[in-house]
Amino acid sequence: MPTETVYGLAASAMNETAVSSIFALKGRPQDNPLIVHVDSLPMARSLAELDDKAEKLADKFWPGPLTMVLKSRGVVPAGVTAGLHTVGIRMPDCDGTLALISASGVPLAAPSANKSGSPSPTSAAHVARDFGDELLILDAGECGIGVESTVVDMTREIPVILRPGAVTQEMLADCIGKVDCAQAFAPMEEGQPAAPGMKYRHYAPAAKVTVGEGEAASVAEAIKYLYDKELKKGEKPLVMAAREHKRFYGRRDVAVTGSEDDLREAARSLYGLLRGADADGFTSILYEAVPKVGIGFAVMNRVYKSAAYNIVRV
Ligand code: TXA
Ligand code: MG
Repeated sequence: MPTETVYGLAASAMNETAVSSIFALKGRPQDNPLIVHVDSLPMARSLAELDDKAEKLADKFWPGPLTMVLKSRGVVPAGVTAGLHTVGIRMPDCDGTLALISASGVPLAAPSANKSGSPSPTSAAHVARDFGDELLILDAGECGIGVESTVVDMTREIPVILRPGAVTQEMLADCIGKVDCAQAFAPMEEGQPAAPGMKYRHYAPAAKVTVGEGEAASVAEAIKYLYDKELKKGEKPLVMAAREHKRFYGRRDVAVTGSEDDLREAARSLYGLLRGADADGFTSILYEAVPKVGIGFAVMNRVYKSAAYNIVRV
């Protein structure tokens, strides 16, 4: 099913057999809970407890790219929540999918519709590439946002962002007061992974990803140096850069991530570019970092992970 963020691999959240087939199809570890998608507030309230802050956020950001981790009422089976006492709920901003939920009459559990570990899908073609004819795909064109929803744990005294997205820490704080953000960039800030699982590549294409970060002209120099070195070694490198910086790279292969002035473009283009690089046979991606402001924070969270924190700072 399409959503405004990425495509989801959906099944009735109330049907354990259907839910277990999601894990099997994706190759997803059973201990990673699924997000439950609802079409209305009453449906959300029937599955979980929404306190005042949660009600405020639902009012402000639903339908939209915000998942709230809430205290479960025990209605959603353990296969969805990985046995936790909480459940992640969101109302997607996509008419087709809201209609699908309404027609089904049940909430839909859905992770992103990619094989585990690979970049999330932002078009029906991406889903078809990972799953072939195994699935029926509801095609609503390209996803408008392009990175997964913000996940915020509402069960803490001070709500904590577990995964950054289009709804930023600032936007949440404006609505409900103090909100924390858990380790979006911890592995690189502390010089080593905070937890063993964090060292693995996520959202990753087959090509090796390197991030260039710093002042634009210096980043371009560093990326050009790496590009030319890799080319000599027989690699097929691809630069991913802002439209305004394309000219820095001369005749080298460049894919445009978006404009410096609108980071939403970088979010929208990210997964399609990573997938496209693989499809076109590139073996190395040199990604110009975008500023970690607004949705750029979520973009860099995903880019770092796809690069397994392989970052060149200049
Ligand atoms: O934008 C999105 O959120 C997309 C679309 C399809 O809605 N879905 C998505 O699902 O990205 P997935 O499974 O790829 O990511 C869900 C994230 C995981 O990091 C999972 O651990 C977390 O949400 N999550 C779900 N339920 C949780 C819970 N009860 N407690 C903590 N984290 C939870
Ligand atoms: Mg995912």
